[in-house]
Amino acid sequence: MDPIVVENVTFSYNRETPVLKNVSLRVQKGEWAAVVGHNGSGKSTLAKCLNGLLEPESGRVLTCGMDTMDKSTIMTLRRRAGMVFQHPDNQIVAPTVADDIAFGLENAGVPYEEMKERVKESISRLRLDGLEEQEPHRLSGGQKQRVALAGIKALQPEVIILDEATSMLDPAGRSEVRKMMRELCREEGMTIVAITHDLEEAAEADRLFVMAGGKILEDGPPAAIFQKRELLLEAGLALPLPVYLAHELREAGVAVDTGVTSEKELVSALCGLKQNT
Ligand SMILES: Nc1ncnc2c1ncn2[C@@H]1O[C@H](COP(=O)(O)OP(=O)(O)O)[C@@H](O)[C@H]1O
Ligand SMILES: [Mg+2]
Repeated sequence: MDPIVVENVTFSYNRETPVLKNVSLRVQKGEWAAVVGHNGSGKSTLAKCLNGLLEPESGRVLTCGMDTMDKSTIMTLRRRAGMVFQHPDNQIVAPTVADDIAFGLENAGVPYEEMKERVKESISRLRLDGLEEQEPHRLSGGQKQRVALAGIKALQPEVIILDEATSMLDPAGRSEVRKMMRELCREEGMTIVAITHDLEEAAEADRLFVMAGGKILEDGPPAAIFQKRELLLEAGLALPLPVYLAHELREAGVAVDTGVTSEKELVSALCGLKQNT
């Protein structure tokens, strides 16, 4: 069964105006899915539904095979599907990096020896070696988000949900956290649900879900979604610069492939043109 299954979910905060309107989506095991949309489109609400922080008014959410409404499995569900939030400071719970990473394991009642082992492994996986005894508050934004990811990784989850986890970071922090997301997905086979309004980050995903006004307008691989400028306009999203350039060049009569998703792909598409002429 797919680790994320959302079926016809409707949700409102005030029991009047729905913020999620009949949302359905599935994310496969090992897939990197990006949910993209403008501010207020319902992304964070959806994220909170995925791990049972919010309950659907109608429809259902099955995360790692467990119904988010089922109180008897909710703690297990939250260990299987960890969540990283936007503000790195709000996630710090302990005075040192190592204690912070161990916190979830302690709560889960993992025996001391195994806990030490898992913390060590998580620290090295997230490249936090040497920072074990540091105060998390003193770290950079990117390092703080890596500590948050390490705490989740230590719980050996199946899914990691990131709600705008890179949006408060500087470009260096953003790229280090993205690299870790890539490694956790591509090397460790974890399923990633990354919520973002940054289409450049989303370009790395396997699949994009475009949200607007509480609905999923469309889903598909980034290259296919980026072809749909009208759709992105409707969702209030700006194309990544290299994709925008490819479209503009094409319109100006340059026979460049508009299916590019990154600067690197645009460069090689342009170099290919040069060799062909
Ligand atoms: N706790 C809340 N109480 C009432 N309304 C909320 C709450 N959180 C979000 N909303 C409203 O729900 C809509 C979707 O918000 P949100 O899910 O945070 O969108 P996004 O994460 O895409 O910016 C917005 O109109 C927002 O104002
Ligand atoms: Mg949000």
